[in-house]
Amino acid sequence: MSAHIIDGKKIAEEIRSEIKQEVSRLKSEQGIVPGLAFILVGENPASQVYVKMKGKACEEVGFFSITERLPADTSEQVLLEKVQLFNNDPTIHGLLVQLPLPPHINEQHIIEAIDPRKDVDGFHPMNVGRLVIGLETFRSCTPAGIQELLVRSGNDPSGKHVVVVGRSNIVGKPVANILLQKQKGANAIVTVAHTGAKDLTPYTKEADILIAATGKAEVITGAMLKKGVVVIDVGINRVEDPMSKQGYRIVGDVHFESASRVASAITPVPGGVGPMTIAMLLKNTLQAARKLVFER
Ligand code: GUN
Repeated sequence: MSAHIIDGKKIAEEIRSEIKQEVSRLKSEQGIVPGLAFILVGENPASQVYVKMKGKACEEVGFFSITERLPADTSEQVLLEKVQLFNNDPTIHGLLVQLPLPPHINEQHIIEAIDPRKDVDGFHPMNVGRLVIGLETFRSCTPAGIQELLVRSGNDPSGKHVVVVGRSNIVGKPVANILLQKQKGANAIVTVAHTGAKDLTPYTKEADILIAATGKAEVITGAMLKKGVVVIDVGINRVEDPMSKQGYRIVGDVHFESASRVASAITPVPGGVGPMTIAMLLKNTLQAARKLVFER
């Protein structure tokens, strides 16, 4: 038996088309056009690609978007001033400072300078804290995308044992916190495994749903999984491949071939979690424009 492939691209397209409809309603009924600002510092090639993709996605759903490109030697002070400008701009509902930032800038200072009501990345400590205690907030885009993928693919996490491998601030910790809430689409029993474990297998073997967010290529293999597990692979890793044109290929944190023989469902890389991240960024921006956050 081979696993069902969870099509993140298709599910993300569904969400984007729902957002597009909401945007046209918001425009015609209330005259509001959701606005998202991006700040990109330096020339990081991956960041440039991501920001371009996000800007294009905004255009497709009818958002206004603006990208402020700053040189790599921009001072922390100048960046903080730009953040303040967008914080005070009434046409901008969401503000995203693309990470990573150059090493001379303290990322945490920048994240904390963003108005929490415009923090569509969900990185501000106020939003992280609200998430932990179950209040309305901006959920970080990749973790929220994982939850949405599970629910929309018919794998509701409620009552299931979810094992998250990885404890980063942008995926592992927030996804664990989202899925353990006593809420619809969550209510899971959550274990977080990480590099502190001598052996991951005793943990991964217990998962009904496994979320791999280790940042290491193909470290989770089929032999580490329980029959019938649902596998969500968050990894995007380059591995050398002399057979390919570019000399590399993209793989996840899960060894797809062996895992798909054991799992009942699995996300591919690419085309699984990746497209969901942008869809959730749009959803958060729409929520910001509607000013739903913090009003409950
Ligand atoms: N860099 C990689 N992923 C992200 C993200 O989701 N948000 C921001 N701001 N930077 C990133």
